[in-house]
Amino acid sequence: MLKNMDISNSMTIKLDSELPKHPGFDPKYRRAPKREVTLTDREIKLALKNALRYIPEEHHEKLAPEFLDELMNMGRIYGYRYRPEGRIKGENIDEYEGKCVEGKAMQVMIDNNLDFDIALYPYELVTYGETGQVCQNWMQYRLIKKYLEQLTDDQTLVVMSGHPVGLFKSNKKSPRVILTNGLMIGMFDNPEDWAKATAMGVSSYGQMTAGGWMYIGPQGIVHGTFNTLLNAGRLKLGVAEDGDIRGHLFVSSGLGGMSGAQAKAVEIANGVGIIAEVDESRIKTRIEQGWVSKSTDSLEEAFKIADEYIDKKEPMSIAYEGNIVDLLEYAVDKDIKIELLSDQTSCHVPYDGGYCPQGLSFEERTDLLKNDKEEFKKHVDKSLIKHFKLIEKLVDKGTYFFDYGNAFMRAVFDAGAKEIAKNGKDTSEGFIFPSYVEDIMGPMLFDYGYGPFRWVCLSGNHEDLIKTDKAAMDAIDPNRRGQDRDNYVWIRDAEKNKLVVGTQARILYQDALGRRDIALKFNKMVRDGEIGPVMLGRDHHDTGGTDSPYRETSNIKDGSNITADMAIHCFAGNAARGMSLVALHNGGGVGISKAINGGFGMVLDGSQRVDEILMNSIPWDAMVGVARRNWARCENSIDTASQYNKKFQGEDHITIPFVADDKLIEKTFNNLKK
Ligand SMILES: NC(=O)c1ccc[n+]([C@@H]2O[C@H](COP(=O)([O-])OP(=O)(O)OC[C@H]3O[C@@H](n4cnc5c(N)ncnc54)[C@H](O)[C@@H]3O)[C@@H](O)[C@H]2O)c1
Repeated sequence: MLKNMDISNSMTIKLDSELPKHPGFDPKYRRAPKREVTLTDREIKLALKNALRYIPEEHHEKLAPEFLDELMNMGRIYGYRYRPEGRIKGENIDEYEGKCVEGKAMQVMIDNNLDFDIALYPYELVTYGETGQVCQNWMQYRLIKKYLEQLTDDQTLVVMSGHPVGLFKSNKKSPRVILTNGLMIGMFDNPEDWAKATAMGVSSYGQMTAGGWMYIGPQGIVHGTFNTLLNAGRLKLGVAEDGDIRGHLFVSSGLGGMSGAQAKAVEIANGVGIIAEVDESRIKTRIEQGWVSKSTDSLEEAFKIADEYIDKKEPMSIAYEGNIVDLLEYAVDKDIKIELLSDQTSCHVPYDGGYCPQGLSFEERTDLLKNDKEEFKKHVDKSLIKHFKLIEKLVDKGTYFFDYGNAFMRAVFDAGAKEIAKNGKDTSEGFIFPSYVEDIMGPMLFDYGYGPFRWVCLSGNHEDLIKTDKAAMDAIDPNRRGQDRDNYVWIRDAEKNKLVVGTQARILYQDALGRRDIALKFNKMVRDGEIGPVMLGRDHHDTGGTDSPYRETSNIKDGSNITADMAIHCFAGNAARGMSLVALHNGGGVGISKAINGGFGMVLDGSQRVDEILMNSIPWDAMVGVARRNWARCENSIDTASQYNKKFQGEDHITIPFVADDKLIEKTFNNLKK
């Protein structure tokens, strides 16, 4: 076995030999709760040994007890000492060292994900969704950056669950980064085994844009929420096809990383929203950012303000500082009409702090979680069941409740209310309430290929963002479909709505060819020197990249929603076509073992090479989803696929299903029974 000295000499890319000073913590910023430690003694020793793999031997004696302390007190080894001091921020791309534009661009994206203004728990490298990390620890952060500084335009960096495995030769049209997060072997693909793997430092939950380095702050979800609310109004409240939800009330919970978008979206859709949030600090952040307009800890006052704005038909968002279950109980008791209702607590991890049970303040929840997890779980289960019963009462009185992709119904089921499942015994046939994808996003957007296309102006110049907004708007024909009209309005008003938090970024739902045309236009603008380089990407809330039976693929009804072939193909196809970064994650949005999602990042440097990659990769990324949805007999996807086949005759071609008559199936089946 080689000695550590020889090992050090055999690497040119490694952490610096001097031990950084522990930078400490600024109490202003939120800290992650302690994660439960379920490791055996053998596994605790392994965790220590694993973390020390990054560290030169001369520091092992000092760091071993420090890391053990982190593990036992925080449930993970974060390597706090290796966090650079002060604020981390996505800077202008020119501020970064690197041998290719992609290497520098990825650093902007990583740093943006860890910005104090952006990240949910910046010290624990959690960007959003309670547990979604950029990478596992600060040693990895430093090492990834060193690799990105060395990356050339004919190499690929390989990152497995936050660990930079190394740089390998590829070619100029290959991805510069291929990364995966949290992928587990089937028999170990469950939250318990994953939690052990993570505590041992061999796995990471990246959500998607946290570990895929593509987060753009809560703006990322505002457009989807805006679309959902508009279309929920049209579907359930009799709002006109080109109307918005003025004069209507939406109630939900959560003003966190993603859920923070709800208040903003309801105002952009001209409606009135009350959003419950138990953590005062998150309300403060959203008020300061202008993402929620008013705040109160009185339910009477919250509903009074709401009434006033409903009557005036003017937009308003109100943060209620308290538990959503208290709010719903109040509404039921006082017979208050809630028209649209959802929930966006972090129910993909209800027992890890994602859901605050009724009866506990936010601080009490944190203490109980730390000191008595079993008791905490009991509180969560009781509260979830009560939450569900209150929703049932409201739905009986005409409320439209939809699950907003946070695994709420699954959590209620796991808490013991089996009656939330359609068949009352398991989740194989789905739940009694629709998910927003089943009713709204699936048929109205994903089936056409519309999804969360996004870009970041890497120069950091706001003028670049304004120019790209204008260029994107000019590429949309608002008269083609209703969806295009909504998207046009969105991008037209984006600047006015002050959506940017962190890097100069924008989200715009677009279909496959809309995305391609905008991408090509931006690349030309870079080539012509009108703007600096741009990073394109998307999140998991899309047509193609995600297999997630309770969410993105909840309107897939041919039985294939328990498979993950599409997400893997999306990822592999994006790699084959040369996207700058391709990523594959376990669990994004809904939790380990409940979803697989593939993502991408594409750096526009103005080159012809990038034009060629965009032509093939951008339509593929969305059309793989349309093709699969069409095969699952989603009606609007069949139309989209058939039009695509006509347009690309002799080039691309999608297999379209023949649809059997239900009566024939019934008749044939009945013969079997005779
Ligand atoms: N539909 C989508 O497109 C979409 C996108 C991203 C994330 N999500 C899901 O939405 C959920 C929330 O994501 P996030 O990033 O905002 O997470 P987050 O953890 O940052 O925010 C959730 C917020 O809910 C609050 N909360 C918890 N229990 C509460 C209760 N009982 N009453 C009131 N407030 C309560 C928490 O204090 C927290 O601020 C996650 O499950 C995530 O996976 C959905």
